[in-house]
Amino acid sequence: MDNNDIKTIQWFPGHMAKTRRAISANLKLVDAVAELIDARTPMSSRNPEIDTLTANKPRIVLLNKCDLADANATAAWVNYLKRENVTALAVDCKSGKGLNKLMPTLKATVLRELMEKRERSGMGGAPIRMMILGIPNVGKSSLINRLAGGKRAKVEDRPGVTRTKQWVKLQDNTELLDMPGVLWPKFEDQSAAVRLAFTGAISDDILDIETLAMKLLSHLAESYPQSLTERYKIELSADDDGLALLEKVGRKRGMVISGGEINTERAAITVLDEFRSGKLGRITLELPPTKE
Ligand code: G4P
Repeated sequence: MDNNDIKTIQWFPGHMAKTRRAISANLKLVDAVAELIDARTPMSSRNPEIDTLTANKPRIVLLNKCDLADANATAAWVNYLKRENVTALAVDCKSGKGLNKLMPTLKATVLRELMEKRERSGMGGAPIRMMILGIPNVGKSSLINRLAGGKRAKVEDRPGVTRTKQWVKLQDNTELLDMPGVLWPKFEDQSAAVRLAFTGAISDDILDIETLAMKLLSHLAESYPQSLTERYKIELSADDDGLALLEKVGRKRGMVISGGEINTERAAITVLDEFRSGKLGRITLELPPTKE
């Protein structure tokens, strides 16, 4: 992939320092962290400093948006993370699927020692406190809303008013910090940035929209050719480059401008929208590393 034309994504150093401090302060208040990542991009949607940021806090990784990801790939990721001693669950925070396993899994794995210790010291009734971390758009608000239902506390957000921490009481004697940690994505790795742009996790404007759609089509022609042939009823040939694919889609959809030229900009917007909303099928953009 030629990434020379990708603009650098900025995340201000001051903002990063502030985030690190806020997370460190909030971590002292919780027993566990739920780290949200995108099941379609489990590597790129992970914050590069997550291990350091969360220090030794018990942590569960939630592969969110699993409704949009390839089910086999998601299962492979859960297994891979398990081999790396990371507890992971596939969830869909839009519908709530998989979330019923969150607390039972936490208690049976990363919080087991704490639960046993509390039980021994007669503190078995103490609530489990948890916070949510993840990059923008990964589904943090959706997760809080799903877990909290209508009980979510309203956070005072007027300037000059101290934002006091809100705890949302959930079932299973759990309290959730109603303020997720917003982390920065893996923006220094340009291929990762392109995959995050494919999913809409970061703004499209790191590349022009047509280049982005061409890169996505080339990737799909290689990894999920059927999703293209079925959705767009186009035939693929081995020498199709991104532009050829984009033109095939545009032609098929009647996106023609004067002189018979294809409106590749409209075609690009269509391809990206349809990919992001799952109309091209369930697609994962990154597979776990295979064993040597
Ligand atoms: P954030 O707090 O981490 O920034 O993310 P947020 O919950 O706002 O979610 C970002 C977008 O992702 C929202 O879509 C949300 O509905 C969607 N989303 C969250 N979890 C899932 C999931 O498991 N599956 C799917 N398919 N989508 C999910 P939006 O287009 O911004 O809003 P809307 O579609 O809810 O109107």
